[in-house]
Amino acid sequence: MIPARSILVLQGLLVLISFSDAFDPISATIGLGIAAGVGVKWKDQIADYTLCKFYECCRKPYLKSDVEGLKLNLTQHLFGQHIVQDVLVNAIGAHFDTIELSRKPLVMSFHGTSGTGKNYVSDFVAAALFEKGIESNFVYKFTATNTDKDLADKVKETVKKCEYSLFIFDEIEKMPMGVFDSIVSLLDHHSYLKGYDFSKAIFIFLSNSAGAEIAKKLKSLMDAGRYRDETELEDFQYIAQLGAYNVQGGLHRSKLIDSHVIDHFVPFLPLEPRHVEMCIKKEFMLRSCPNEASDEDVRKIIKDAMTYDDTKKFSNNGCKRISKKVESYCYQQKMKSQH
Ligand SMILES: Nc1ncnc2c1ncn2[C@@H]1O[C@H](COP(=O)(O)OP(=O)(O)OP(=O)(O)O)[C@@H](O)[C@H]1O
Ligand SMILES: [Mg+2]
Repeated sequence: MIPARSILVLQGLLVLISFSDAFDPISATIGLGIAAGVGVKWKDQIADYTLCKFYECCRKPYLKSDVEGLKLNLTQHLFGQHIVQDVLVNAIGAHFDTIELSRKPLVMSFHGTSGTGKNYVSDFVAAALFEKGIESNFVYKFTATNTDKDLADKVKETVKKCEYSLFIFDEIEKMPMGVFDSIVSLLDHHSYLKGYDFSKAIFIFLSNSAGAEIAKKLKSLMDAGRYRDETELEDFQYIAQLGAYNVQGGLHRSKLIDSHVIDHFVPFLPLEPRHVEMCIKKEFMLRSCPNEASDEDVRKIIKDAMTYDDTKKFSNNGCKRISKKVESYCYQQKMKSQH
């Protein structure tokens, strides 16, 4: 049974919403009927047909913990990042496996040179956690240009709306030193603040710091006979951590590092030309180019879009400029075929 007072509130809500063009009174009536029949979950059911139809709600099905989906996406779409794949799937899988017992938010720091997939992977994480993916109201993206004055307040406000929020801090090397100090205490164990629970949230920091050192290390391991795919997290973790601490900007001598609140330093390996080729072929497929990518097409685009880093082994900019290059190449092809 639905309590009478709640029905009144609901009726008020429905009247309010019915002024909206998008409101569908039939669904809402059905919703009420279903909800009244079910009893226990009636509030959720009603919300599904009313509030949540217009505004995302902080529960299933708007929230997900699709670790299998994440794994599949990374396996199929992410090239050359076997360590990222392992660390991420295990870290996020474990976080959700025992989420009710969680005592600390999951905090990860992604490191690597440009175009190796740091943002790309964060989008996959968002897609695994929220029905609306990166567009979700519970994903908060923080960039060097929108440095809020009070970061801690913003984090608190977001977590209050939804404890399962995802925070992505992009290009942190461009952010002012000490910017994260105000949130360190929120990220630690038992970070309890009246009315807030941060332990279910996920925080990801992205930066280029340590990218060049990771590349150097990978080259030296490969020169010594190790296959890329045989390299392990342990080979790079310390480099990433040290790089994060020493580089100027957001994490420079940061309390975030001193306080050991970052759970995983995730090294993004520099991409080799063969990975850039894979990106080119992927873009050709996505863009339904008039023709499939021939070896000649790939060679031309690589020549135009890729430069080598200091090691002379890896791409300086990974797959960063590939999508636009392929876009213009395909357009050129289309124009030629029309004349
Ligand atoms: N490892 C990868 N596998 C497949 N595609 C990739 C990979 N890395 C990058 N890409 C492609 O390149 C695009 C740009 O990559 P992304 O923005 O994630 O780079 P980034 O690491 O964030 O670089 P930056 O440090 O310059 O911000 C992605 O949208 C994706 O299409
Ligand atoms: Mg990026």
